[in-house]
Amino acid sequence: MAILDFGSQYTQLIARRVRELGEYSEILMPDVSAKALAARRPKAVILSGGPASVHVPGSPRCDPAIFRLGVPVLGICYGMQLMAQTLGGKVRGADEREYGHAMLHVERPGMLFRGLGERFAVWMSHGDRVEKLPRGFKVIGSSRNCPAAAMYHPSRKLYALQFHPEVVHTPKGTEILRNFLFKVAKCAGRWSMASFVKTTVEEIRERVGGDRVLCAMSGGVDSSVLACLLDRAIGDRVQCVFVNNGLLRKDEHRQVVDTFKKTVGLNLKYVNASKEFLTRLRGVVSPERKRRIIGSTFIRVFERAVKALGTFKYLAQGTLYPDVVESNSAFGGPSAVIKTHHNVGGLPERMKFKLLEPFRHLFKDEVRKVGVELGLPDEVIWRHPFPGPGLAVRVIGPVTPGKLRVLREADAIFIEELRRAKLYRRIWQAFAVLLSGKAVGVMGDERTYASVIALRAVTSRDGMTADWARVPQKTLAHVANRIINEVKGVNRVVFDVSSKPPSTIEWE
Ligand code: XMP
Repeated sequence: MAILDFGSQYTQLIARRVRELGEYSEILMPDVSAKALAARRPKAVILSGGPASVHVPGSPRCDPAIFRLGVPVLGICYGMQLMAQTLGGKVRGADEREYGHAMLHVERPGMLFRGLGERFAVWMSHGDRVEKLPRGFKVIGSSRNCPAAAMYHPSRKLYALQFHPEVVHTPKGTEILRNFLFKVAKCAGRWSMASFVKTTVEEIRERVGGDRVLCAMSGGVDSSVLACLLDRAIGDRVQCVFVNNGLLRKDEHRQVVDTFKKTVGLNLKYVNASKEFLTRLRGVVSPERKRRIIGSTFIRVFERAVKALGTFKYLAQGTLYPDVVESNSAFGGPSAVIKTHHNVGGLPERMKFKLLEPFRHLFKDEVRKVGVELGLPDEVIWRHPFPGPGLAVRVIGPVTPGKLRVLREADAIFIEELRRAKLYRRIWQAFAVLLSGKAVGVMGDERTYASVIALRAVTSRDGMTADWARVPQKTLAHVANRIINEVKGVNRVVFDVSSKPPSTIEWE
C-alpha cells in the first residue's frame, strides 16, 4: 500500500491504520512518478489530505498517470480534490472552512460503505470541496454542507472522501479503510509486527555493514526496544550506554542493568554519574535551568564514556513519530528537527554520527508491539514513559539527595498500589511529585510540619494531550495512607486533577 503525502497532519495516522489492519504501508513523496510507483507494485494507493488548495499555483500534485495504473486509488480530503480536478471535475473554494463533526448520508453503499448503515458520523476538515464530479464518477455520500462528500468511479476503482476516515472522530473510519483494503483492493492483510522486525533487521544490517553503532539507553520502552532490535540485527557491534544521572526511580538503575546486561545479554556499559549531576544541580530552582544543566551534563558524561569505547559511525535513537510531528513545522517544513529534550539530539558537532531511527514512523504502542515481538519482559514493555531529566522535574525547587529519597519511596508506593489494583497498564503515566514548602499535620499527639506529595496519573494516547486518570477513591485513600505512614517527612498527599492542555503532564 502506497500513501502519497500531501502534507496532512494525519498522513502517518493513515499509515498506522493500514498497518493495524494487517497491510504494509509506505509513505511516498506526492510527486513520485507513476512509473516509480508501479515499480513498487502497490496493491492500492491512498492520496492523503493536506493544507493546500488545488487552486493555488504550486500546490502539490501527483502524476496524473497514477489514475490510469489500474490500481485502486482512495483520495482523502485534498486527495479527493486533486483527484477531481485532475480528472476533469471542478473544485470550489468554499467561503467557510468546514471543520468538525458532520453526518454522512450514504447515497450508494457500494463496496466502500458496505455494512455501515445509511448514515454515520464523520470528521471534516477542509476549505475547498468538489462542485462538479469528473466524468463517470458518482456521489456515494453527502453531508449537509457538502453534496459530494464521497464519490467513486465504478469501473476504475477510484474512490474519494471529503472527510477523514483515519481519525477517531470518524468512528466507522476503520471499517471504511478495511473495506477499501480488502473489498476494493483485495489485499491479503498478512503484514504484522513480525514482518516489521524482519525487514528492519535486514535494513539495519545492510545500512550498518561492518561498522559500530552507539545506543544511549535510558531503561525506558523506546530505547530498550531499540537496543534489543539492534542487538538482534548486529549483535555486539551495538554498544549500549546507560547513564545513571542520580535522578532515576527507586532501584531503577539496578533493574536496568539486571534486565539488559544479565538477562538479555546486551553489550551494555553502565556509567554512574549521579554525583556529577547532583553537584551541578545544587540550589537550582528554575525548571528550564534544571533541564539545561541535565542536558549538558549528560552530553559531557556521555562523550567521556564514548571516548573510552572506541569509534562509532552510527548513533541509534528511539525517535517516535509524535516526536517528529511535534518538532516539524507544517507542510514543506524542514525534515524532522528532533525535540532536543526527548533524545540526545543536542550532541555536539564534533561527535559526528549518522543517525539510525528505525521507529520514526511508529507510535508508542507500536513500539510496544515490536518489544513483544522481540520477547522483552512485560515490565519493560509496559513501563510508563519517564522524562530524561527524571526526578529533577518532580522535585519542585532545589534537588537534594534527601528530597530524592522521599520522592522515590512515595513514588514506589503509588506505582506498587496501581499495579496491585490492576490499573497500571490502563494509565499512560503515573508518578509522585514532591512539592516545595511544608504543611501542618498531626500525628499521634504531635504537631507535624512536613512535606506534601502530589500524585499525578494521566491517560493519554501519545503524551501530546492527556486527561487525569479517574483512579478509584479506594486506591487513592490507600496510597495516601501508606505514603503518610511509611515515608518519613511526608504528612499530606494531594491528587492532581488537571488535564493537558492547559496543564502539562510533568509539573516542571
Ligand atoms: P509534558 O510535561 O510536556 O510531557 O506534558 C509530555 C511527555 O513528555 C515527557 N517529558 C519529557 N521527556 N525529556 C523527556 O525525555 C524531557 O525533558 C521531558 N519533559 C517531559 C513527559 O514525561 C510526558 O510523557
